[in-house]
Amino acid sequence: MYSLLKPLLFRMDPERSHDLTLGQLAWLGKSPLKGLIAQSVADKPVERMGLTFKNPLGLAAGLDKNGACIDAFAAMGFGFIEVGTVTPRPQAGNPKPRLFRLPKANAIINRMGFNNLGVDNLVNNVKAANYRGILGINIGKNKDTPVEKGTEDYLICLDKVYGHASYVTVNISSPNTPGLRSMQYGEAFDELLSSVKARQLALADQHGRYVPVVVKIAPDMNDEELQSVADCLRRHHMDGVIATNTTLARTGVEHLKHGSEAGGLSGRPVRALSTQTVTKLKGMLAGELPIVGVGGIDSAQSAQEKLNAGADLLQIYTGFIYQGPALVKAIVDGIE
Ligand SMILES: Cc1cc2nc3c(=O)[nH]c(=O)nc-3n(C[C@H](O)[C@H](O)[C@H](O)COP(=O)(O)O)c2cc1C
Repeated sequence: MYSLLKPLLFRMDPERSHDLTLGQLAWLGKSPLKGLIAQSVADKPVERMGLTFKNPLGLAAGLDKNGACIDAFAAMGFGFIEVGTVTPRPQAGNPKPRLFRLPKANAIINRMGFNNLGVDNLVNNVKAANYRGILGINIGKNKDTPVEKGTEDYLICLDKVYGHASYVTVNISSPNTPGLRSMQYGEAFDELLSSVKARQLALADQHGRYVPVVVKIAPDMNDEELQSVADCLRRHHMDGVIATNTTLARTGVEHLKHGSEAGGLSGRPVRALSTQTVTKLKGMLAGELPIVGVGGIDSAQSAQEKLNAGADLLQIYTGFIYQGPALVKAIVDGIE
C-alpha cells in the first residue's frame, strides 16, 4: 500500500504529508481497519535493561512526537516504539519550512525544534493506547528554558512519564534547540546525569518499579568527547545509550537541492558516522551499557552492520519514510 501512496505523499510538502499521514495513522490504529497496516514479522526476542523486546528493531524518536499513533506503529511489527521528544510545556518549534527531503541521498534535513503538544498531552495519548509492548518516552527541554536550568525540564518530564514508560530517553543531542548539545559535555553533563539518576532512583522507590533511563547522543563528537561521555554514562550507572541523533555534517550532500539547509541530516549520509560511534562506544563502555544503534539503517544489511558494530538494539526513522512498513519486515526477518 505504501508504494502506491508514496508518490502522492512525496509530491506534497514534506511536513504536510507527515501531518496528514500521522492523522490517518492515529485514526487507523484505533479502528477495526487496523488490519490494513498490520503485518507479521519474525519473533526475535532480545533481553536488555531488564526488558524483553519482541524483536530488536524500534521506531526512532521524532516521528510520533506526541505518541498519537502508538497502536498503528505497533501493528507494523516494530519490536519497540519510542515517542517524543516531548517537553514540559507545548511549543510550536521553528518557523516553517523546517523539513526537507533529499531523495537522491535517501536523506532528510530537519530543524523542527521539538514541536510538540507537551508532556501532559503525550501521557494522555499513552494512557489511551492499547499497546502493551516496550514503549520508550523521549524527553527534552523547552526552547525558552535557559540551558543552565535545562535539568529542571528533564526532571519535570521524568516525573510525569515515569509511570507510563518502559524506558525513558534523555535527549540532549538535537541540533535544533539552541545550546542543547552543550549539555553533553563536561560539568553540565555530569550534573544532568547525577540529578536524573537521583530522581530515577527516588521514582523507582515511589512506583515500586525501576524504569531504565538511556541517553541519546550526537554523532558529531571527537574521540576525546565521546570517551568523556562514555565515562560519565558508566560513572552514573545509566542504563543505555542511543547512538545517534542527526548530524550537522553535510559531507556528500552539499551539491544537492536542500543540501545546505540548516538542521540535522539523517538517513544514508549519517550511516557511517553513526556506525563508527557505535563501534567506538562498544569499546569505551566495556560492555557495561547496551547500545541502541540508529542512523541510516535502510536494509537488513545496514541493520546487520550496526549489530556487528556492537549495537544491541536498532531504530529507524528516515529509512521508514522512504520505504514504509515493508522495511520493518525486511529488517526483522533479514537480521541474524
Ligand atoms: C524529521 C525528524 C525529526 C526528528 N525528531 C527527533 C526528536 O524529536 N527527538 C530525537 O531524539 N530524535 C529525533 N530525530 C532523530 C531520529 O530519531 C534519528 O536519531 C536520526 O534521524 C537518525 O536515524 P535515521 O537515519 O534512521 O533517520 C528526528 C529525525 C527526523 C528526520
